[in-house]
Amino acid sequence: MPRRKPTPTPGPFLLHAELLPDRVAHPDRFPYTLPAVRGLGRLAFHPKVTFFVGENGSGKSTVLEAMAVGLGLNPEGGSRNFNFNTHASHSRLDEALRVAKSHRHPADSYFLRAESYFNVASEIERLDKDPHGGGRIIDAYGGRSLHEQSHGESFFALFRNRFRGCGLYLLDEPEAALSPTRQLQFLATLHDYCGRGSQFVIATHSPLILAYPDATIFRFGPEGIAPVAYTETEHYLVTRGFLANPERALRELFGTDGEPVVS
Ligand SMILES: Nc1ncnc2c1ncn2[C@@H]1O[C@H](COP(=O)(O)OP(=O)(O)OP(=O)(O)O)[C@@H](O)[C@H]1O
Ligand SMILES: [Mg+2]
Repeated sequence: MPRRKPTPTPGPFLLHAELLPDRVAHPDRFPYTLPAVRGLGRLAFHPKVTFFVGENGSGKSTVLEAMAVGLGLNPEGGSRNFNFNTHASHSRLDEALRVAKSHRHPADSYFLRAESYFNVASEIERLDKDPHGGGRIIDAYGGRSLHEQSHGESFFALFRNRFRGCGLYLLDEPEAALSPTRQLQFLATLHDYCGRGSQFVIATHSPLILAYPDATIFRFGPEGIAPVAYTETEHYLVTRGFLANPERALRELFGTDGEPVVS
């Protein structure tokens, strides 16, 4: 008898992640040299959205990638069926990072990272053309070749068409290809997925995306990782300060206080 697919259950699927110090073989080597990784402790995930923020190089992608590997996802991106590998450079953090799951199983899971998105799109096209691949995979992504759309169009098509309710999704800088208007559409779509039982962990630099209210924001910093309120993030404060008076902000930046910005 064919096995019946289990009925999708809403999240949360992930409860927390913790670093197990006794599994760290070389504390003096990358990635344990990163303050955020060393001081990771235990991160309790929000049932809907957990954001990772922090300076470039603070370790957000390293932790997200280790979580993806721990969950059986391809470190370069994609679903569980993706096992292509263009540069085997992921750290061994997954060996010491325990990701605690609830008893609920996601109906779908996907790791999407802006920096290797091109390779994910190529893998989707390869699977679509594979005669043993089981049919038109591209239909699940909106039906149009991802390489024949712009970076932002195809990234958004994947997000809107391929993701669903009751799924677990890890996203690394989803804003990278998206215009401000598309980032707002991204927020609306994120809200829809969360309302249908999906859970997200998102590394981002976008002050727009970070505004999602049903979320915990973790800041990766020199002392480790700690929760922070939206209005206390650097993203919110710097953007707000700049937009409140761009001319003054530019004069301060250029060291030309008192002079017009353009002479
Ligand atoms: N294989 C590696 N060996 C040594 N150092 C590495 C390795 N991979 C990454 N790093 C370093 O680890 C640090 C953290 O990188 P990571 O990509 O996690 O940062 P990030 O917080 O995602 O930054 P960004 O905001 O720029 O995406 C960086 O300084 C990076 O150069
Ligand atoms: Mg990164």
